[in-house]
Amino acid sequence: MSEPTAVDQPAQPTLHIDRYEAIWIRITLLITTVFLLAIIFASMAYGIQVPGAYKRIKPEEVMAKGSPFADPGLHELAPGKYEAYIRAATWQFTPGEIHVPVGSTVTFYATSIDVQHGFRILETNINMMVLPGQISTLTAHFEKAGTYDLICTEYCGAGGPTIGHHTMYGQIFVDEKPKTE
Ligand code: CUA
Repeated sequence: MSEPTAVDQPAQPTLHIDRYEAIWIRITLLITTVFLLAIIFASMAYGIQVPGAYKRIKPEEVMAKGSPFADPGLHELAPGKYEAYIRAATWQFTPGEIHVPVGSTVTFYATSIDVQHGFRILETNINMMVLPGQISTLTAHFEKAGTYDLICTEYCGAGGPTIGHHTMYGQIFVDEKPKTE
């Protein structure tokens, strides 16, 4: 009896990946990496955040006594730091106008008393959905003075004889600081 040689060993199964499949796996990994880097870049360089489901609120309690949305508006928390409660309804934002000094940081809290609305402040990172039953929140920093338009970006006008989605609109006035002598 001779010693077993290498030839007698059962062959190890080898993983065969087709050349084109290997190329596509690399392309897929590359694309995924680029998208991931784009998300990280957007969140760090542009401050783009995912709107948080900050809290739930029953739509029938939005207008109840003690609810911050019963008497919505702007509150100053500290110099240059504000919170703004905005109530959305078909078809208006309440309040429709707010004023803050330039350089302010404003955290917006919004909810809806009826249907789904959008909450987009042009030229800022604020773009979120406003849903009945939920309080949406995002924070913006207003570095430049000017007027910023707040628009509804969810079609909220279907189903009735009248439509007003395109009129659902508000404004954020970022005022120059008064000059100190
Ligand atoms: Cu509200 Cu469209």
